[in-house]
Amino acid sequence: MANVLDDRAAIARYDGGGMLEAIPRLAEQLADGWARSRSLELPASHRDPDSVTVLGMGGSAIGADLVRAIFSDRLRVPLVTVRDYDLPAHAGPRTLIVAASHSGATEETLSALAQAISRGCPVAAIGTGGPLMAAARKGALPHLEYAGEAQPRASVGSGVALLAGLLDRAGSLAVSGEEFAEASASVHEMASRCGPSVPTEQNPAKQLAWSLVDRLPVVEAGGFLGPVARRWKTQLNENAKTVAAWEELPEATHNAVVGYAQPETLHERTFVVFLASPDDHPRVALRRSLSIDLLAERQIGHEVVAVGGRGRLAQAFSAIALGDFTSVYLAILYGLDPTPVAAITYVKERLAMADPDAVD
Ligand code: PA5
Repeated sequence: MANVLDDRAAIARYDGGGMLEAIPRLAEQLADGWARSRSLELPASHRDPDSVTVLGMGGSAIGADLVRAIFSDRLRVPLVTVRDYDLPAHAGPRTLIVAASHSGATEETLSALAQAISRGCPVAAIGTGGPLMAAARKGALPHLEYAGEAQPRASVGSGVALLAGLLDRAGSLAVSGEEFAEASASVHEMASRCGPSVPTEQNPAKQLAWSLVDRLPVVEAGGFLGPVARRWKTQLNENAKTVAAWEELPEATHNAVVGYAQPETLHERTFVVFLASPDDHPRVALRRSLSIDLLAERQIGHEVVAVGGRGRLAQAFSAIALGDFTSVYLAILYGLDPTPVAAITYVKERLAMADPDAVD
């Protein structure tokens, strides 16, 4: 049988929005975002905060989760991601608020931002334009702007580099340009292994896509790779338009590990991907292998993806690139263009038409 993933013309036909070409560009975003952040001047009110709260949704929120996890060994203050309309009560004048929105028009982010401003919190913004950047310019708020041609989810390199760079300028995190260079190199390395010209026999992303087709993908990871598992799940949702789940280790061995039992009819329709770093806590590695024993007993498909790269940032972006490629190839196996997200557009358009206070 012909393998559509080895048919360049078919791939180009399905990937009309160019999502495959967007993945290696994460490398440039990392370098560019870090460089942009070097010229940011923060006023005293924004430096050395007691905590950081990032406001964002979807593709603009995951960058905050990644920064929190990747740099958890160095972040000097707690970092909270708020994916909601309301700012938590704990945010105050010593909380640095970063509103992150690719479009700059996301209503949950703008709502929480308005609360932060009226509460007197120090506020900064990251985005490509829209009402968020207009508000930042009008209110003379510190802001970092990046080019907006990619989809929000295809801009995660910018999101991570700009936020980490901003926190470095705020004195909450010390990062180096070399780390971003390593992460860029790891994206290029993964792209050279997973690009469309690499045939399925040598291409880990195409092989994974074949394992996931017509199955429920579940992605498990521990430590700093936890949010990378979440990123895989959301990329599978948005690119491949499939249901997917993610689980964090060691927590998954306290609940999710039980839940693979039922429904039994799902056993042959489930595939679990474990993201494994050489830097995982040894007990997490043991919990992963015990989880695998239990999956094997039930004959549930699974695979361990060994994540490489020098340093956590490089490892995270290597795994992100692999997940992105996998999700795009899975879209093609379903005969779909990975780029459009009609369901998200539907919800946003209907919300824009609705009474702002309507609840149903
Ligand atoms: O991937 C997407 O398109 C979404 O998850 C968006 O990121 C989300 O809807 C928020 O929009 P924005 O990133 O423009 O703030």
